[in-house]
Amino acid sequence: MSLIPEIKPQQSIELLKELHILTRDGKINQDTRRKLKQVYHLYQFIEPLMADVLAEKGSLTLADHGAGKSYLGFILYDLFLKDKPSAHVYGVETRQDLVDKSVDLAQRLGFAGMSFLNLTVEQSITSDALPPQVDIITALHACNTATDDAIRFALAKDAKYIVLVPCCQAEVAAVLRQKKNETFGKTPLSELWRHPIHTREFGSQLTNVLRCLQLEARGYQVTVTELVGWEHSMKNELIIAKKVGGAKKSARERQESILRELNLEELRERFAY
Ligand SMILES: C[S@@+](CC[C@H](N)C(=O)[O-])C[C@H]1O[C@@H](n2cnc3c(N)ncnc32)[C@H](O)[C@@H]1O
Repeated sequence: MSLIPEIKPQQSIELLKELHILTRDGKINQDTRRKLKQVYHLYQFIEPLMADVLAEKGSLTLADHGAGKSYLGFILYDLFLKDKPSAHVYGVETRQDLVDKSVDLAQRLGFAGMSFLNLTVEQSITSDALPPQVDIITALHACNTATDDAIRFALAKDAKYIVLVPCCQAEVAAVLRQKKNETFGKTPLSELWRHPIHTREFGSQLTNVLRCLQLEARGYQVTVTELVGWEHSMKNELIIAKKVGGAKKSARERQESILRELNLEELRERFAY
């Protein structure tokens, strides 16, 4: 264990201890150091979005989906939002034990603008515990199709910004595999079906392509970048979407062509709504 030089000056040391990023005697815990680095990396991207919303509206709501231990929500709140009474962060998480711990921690730290909800992302779309409009949506490695539900949530809540670091999504690859025999030989792309690892990886990439087109089709400007420095074993694609206008027909058409070409029309409801 060593002292960490890169802790931001406005960061509460008490919070980092509570999150077990620092030990009781203030040394960095090497097991959770990775998490701090990831969240700080994301903070660079999210801080200007929070500043923009606050400048525009004077208030801010942010929902973090698949929150886990809520490292992201707590650190965003501590660094940027805790002195802004009009800001509120919601953590949505299916594990009751993690929700209880986060509720308890927020109470002890006096973080009154944080709520933690034991809901699936899908349930949170219609839950009364969340407001009808939410400004920023984040989902960091939310499992499988939880990222898709987070996109649905963002669209339902008319979010200005959406920040996603998707996890593996198995659904597209499963449909690709199911359709393998039917599709094989009909397109040169069917070489992608020959080896399971290619099908799986292609399915995962294709999922994000279809998600981006869905966001574009619903009036978002989308940027996709790689989170350099994150472990290779983890998904490290960062998708940031900003609401810029109305629906974009050409994105919907491009999405439709892909679904047709790859015989994936049954996934239309997942990606094109
Ligand atoms: C890989 S962890 C990531 C946690 C956190 N975002 C982070 O990066 O530290 C994924 C979390 O999503 C939660 N989760 C999975 N599916 C979910 C769903 N459909 N709705 C809400 N939470 C979900 C899991 O319980 C888990 O805590």
